[in-house]
Amino acid sequence: MKRAAEKEKIKTAFAGAAETYDSVAEVQALSSAHLCEMIKTTMISAPPGEILDVGCGTGITSLEAMKIYPGAKYTLCDISGEMVRESEKKIKNAQFIVCDAEKYDFPGNYDLGISNLAVQWFESLDDFLGKILKHCRYFAFSTLTDGSFFNRKKKLENCGVFSEYPSSEELLNICRQHGFLRKYDTKRYNLRFETFRASCEYFKKLGATANFTGKNYENLFSILRDKHAADLNYDVFFGIIEGR
Ligand SMILES: C[S@@+](CC[C@H](N)C(=O)[O-])C[C@H]1O[C@@H](n2cnc3c(N)ncnc32)[C@H](O)[C@@H]1O
Repeated sequence: MKRAAEKEKIKTAFAGAAETYDSVAEVQALSSAHLCEMIKTTMISAPPGEILDVGCGTGITSLEAMKIYPGAKYTLCDISGEMVRESEKKIKNAQFIVCDAEKYDFPGNYDLGISNLAVQWFESLDDFLGKILKHCRYFAFSTLTDGSFFNRKKKLENCGVFSEYPSSEELLNICRQHGFLRKYDTKRYNLRFETFRASCEYFKKLGATANFTGKNYENLFSILRDKHAADLNYDVFFGIIEGR
């Protein structure tokens, strides 16, 4: 399990960004739409009656899923109570749970689990898939892969430590260990910011700051004064697993 301090850092960062998240979550919205499109075109025998959204954030993915499955019963969960409250403002007639999805003992069973750009914050996707596929007939998710934030990582290499992400091959192996991989895809989303500082402000509004721990602040401050444009790439893996 991620050390308690790291989990707390993730939770606090997302809690602080709950009100600004939607104003910058362009990639998350595109990725949610792609994940739901994949679900729609994957042969799932009957429309799911019960859907669980893991790491729901402000509800973007569930709202997208509701376009395909308006009649389903939704349960949304997130480690941040502030994020869950943002979802509650938009989504009525759903169940909401504030929990660490890695530790939580889900009481119910679901036809479909969905999760967009959340599991990269987990300590062990492997353990989580083993658990969640006991509760979900299908689990459709997206997560970051190792090529993500290439320029940013290069720029910050002498300033601190970045979280590592798995390769698509590693993710394929993990998925196949836990069930039948019905569909997968990869996509790159690119963003450009006027300055490096603007890209840091973007991450703060998104709440995605716990993946970098600063060490050399002198280097960091000089990079923050950099006036060049900053490119940001998200390399995303999408997978739909059918449990055994
Ligand atoms: C980048 S946001 C994605 C939110 C949403 N799925 C979307 O597409 O907009 C990641 C979310 O995962 C949540 N999260 C991180 N670790 C979690 C955990 N262990 N259990 C539940 N939620 C978690 C965060 O609080 C945050 O809301």
